[in-house]
Amino acid sequence: MNAELKTTAGPPDYLAPVFAQYPIEVVTAEGVWLHTRDGRRILDLYGGHAVAALGYGHPGWTRAIESQARSLSFQSNAVPLDVRVRAATRLIRFANLGFDSVFFVNSGAEANENALKMAFRLTGRREVVALEGSFHGRTAGAGAVTWGAAEKWYGYPSTPFDVRFTSRSDAGALATSITAATAAVIAEPVQGVGGALDLGAPFLAALARRCAEVGALLIFDEVQCGMGRTGAPFAANLYGVTPDMITTAKALGNGLPCAALLMSPRVSAAVKLDALGTTFGGGPLACAAIEAVIEAIETEDLLANVRRVAAYIRDTCIVGPVTAHQGAGFLTGLRTRIPAKAVQAALLERNILTGTSSDPAVLRLLPPYILEEAHVDLLRSALVDLG
Ligand SMILES: Cc1ncc(COP(=O)(O)O)c(C=O)c1O
Repeated sequence: MNAELKTTAGPPDYLAPVFAQYPIEVVTAEGVWLHTRDGRRILDLYGGHAVAALGYGHPGWTRAIESQARSLSFQSNAVPLDVRVRAATRLIRFANLGFDSVFFVNSGAEANENALKMAFRLTGRREVVALEGSFHGRTAGAGAVTWGAAEKWYGYPSTPFDVRFTSRSDAGALATSITAATAAVIAEPVQGVGGALDLGAPFLAALARRCAEVGALLIFDEVQCGMGRTGAPFAANLYGVTPDMITTAKALGNGLPCAALLMSPRVSAAVKLDALGTTFGGGPLACAAIEAVIEAIETEDLLANVRRVAAYIRDTCIVGPVTAHQGAGFLTGLRTRIPAKAVQAALLERNILTGTSSDPAVLRLLPPYILEEAHVDLLRSALVDLG
């Protein structure tokens, strides 16, 4: 049980060695199951870092991409496309938060960069407040508001704007950290990398109140917790707190790289011609994927499934090395009494793939929304077996 996932040694593959590698080689996948080259069948409770919302080989998603690839594989944003309008309309309606425009980009970090840019433009201020434990991406702006990046990997000589970090739990501290100098507050309503940690409705409401008091914009980074992962369209819906902007990615395309910035009317009003830009964002394949993801979530009632099966995990999996549950929906944290990495490695030996987080005592689960109770029973048995 004390094994940890290690970087695999082997012949050179010419890939920059920046990612620790799981000791498995996945060659195909279907539903919630991964198949490895050496013949193992592994239950995927990590979903490719929260991406595989519909699982693998979803027929509607596959058909949508195949058909879009045949009819029109690419045109830039300079050319109006029906599939792009359909994806934007579906996304705005899915969110149901009163937003009125979408800017499609390619990654979570890029969505956050553009959200921050809109906040600077609207307020004319130059400081951003972010939360302890946050993760917002690896680019200059998104990395600047990521907790601990400066010490670990930031790499740029300075941040492009002023950043202040505040507590993720102490609402009393917000009055001093969020001021008339704050352009934006950026927060993950349920922190992902920070440990599947749910900030909760009272804290998020206090954040929104303080932003309104000082005229700062509130950005919810729902790159990981959005697009149905909490069992609601967005965590903003779940907690009843509507920010000025939401960024989302990961589950949005179910594996087709894409991301989106959703804007309230106040923010949309400040978007001018040429203010933002991208080559690949909003491409037809990505938009076909987005449309298919929302279609599947809605027609297969997947939000209800997430809520039901997440509750089942909470009710049945506090066993073996697990002492408590945190997070929301399928952004689940299982608190462990021994290092989570050791539990992760032991589960993988039993053909269950899970994730960890920056909290060494939290095992992070980000399963596909099609997960069933019978799959959770396999996790429970494995955890019991670990003792
Ligand atoms: C909450 C959150 N924001 C932003 C990002 C960055 O997204 P990307 O890797 O697509 O740039 C991530 C990635 O893990 C994330 O979890």
